[in-house]
Amino acid sequence: MRKNIVAGNWKMNKTLQEGVELAKGVEAALNERTPNCDVIIGTPFIHLATIAATVDTKKLGVSAENCADKVSGAYTGEVSAAMVASTGAEYVILGHSERRAYYGETAEILKEKVLLALANNLKVIFCIGEVLEEREAGKEFDVVKAQIEESLFNLSAEDWSKIILAYEPVWAIGTGKTATAEQAQEMHAFIRKTVAEKYGEEVAEATSILYGGSCKPSNAKELFANKDVDGGLIGGASLDVEQFMGIVDAF
Ligand code: 13P
Repeated sequence: MRKNIVAGNWKMNKTLQEGVELAKGVEAALNERTPNCDVIIGTPFIHLATIAATVDTKKLGVSAENCADKVSGAYTGEVSAAMVASTGAEYVILGHSERRAYYGETAEILKEKVLLALANNLKVIFCIGEVLEEREAGKEFDVVKAQIEESLFNLSAEDWSKIILAYEPVWAIGTGKTATAEQAQEMHAFIRKTVAEKYGEEVAEATSILYGGSCKPSNAKELFANKDVDGGLIGGASLDVEQFMGIVDAF
């Protein structure tokens, strides 16, 4: 059966020293409990190697927040999937709405990134989600379906065992405005149906679909109680051990 997962996305926060402290704090808190979910932290590139060497990555997964769409070469400032994998990180977040909106990441670019991540044995946390105007125009299902189709439907059924989806309605990210449990469940069920139509029930049932967008200890339980919500991708609340653990404990 599919896994429940709580993953943090630190975004562009924390110096290396602060990040190591936070990772150690999360690991210590995990050692005090038996979580009913996998726990992952997504950190800036520059933290990855140190954090992956510091924590027990079997207990606390480590993820990059991005990787390049090229194998290697003259791409100043870029970080390849192979480099990410070489740090000991096991996951990479791709397609985050902030990458799509601020760094011009198109469906085509993301398709390349996913292929390179998988070729380097990384598991991909792939983000999808509509902006407010799209929801207000009733286009949220079309938008999300297209995001999945355009970047992931070239993959094999076997590849899908390494794909985790994260539905992050852009209007809920960092706004304090969470999707209701009903809105999340409705979209997650739609996403699972979309995957099932292409790859069959078995692949769809095995795919973890996380919710992201102002997820907090106070609303995580209600969100995670839904049949098709298999956990969360957490921004702001992942920067604090107590808050992050409050979400882990919702399972
Ligand atoms: P917040 O939890 O800060 O709303 O961010 C969600 C997110 O974008 C996680 O990737």
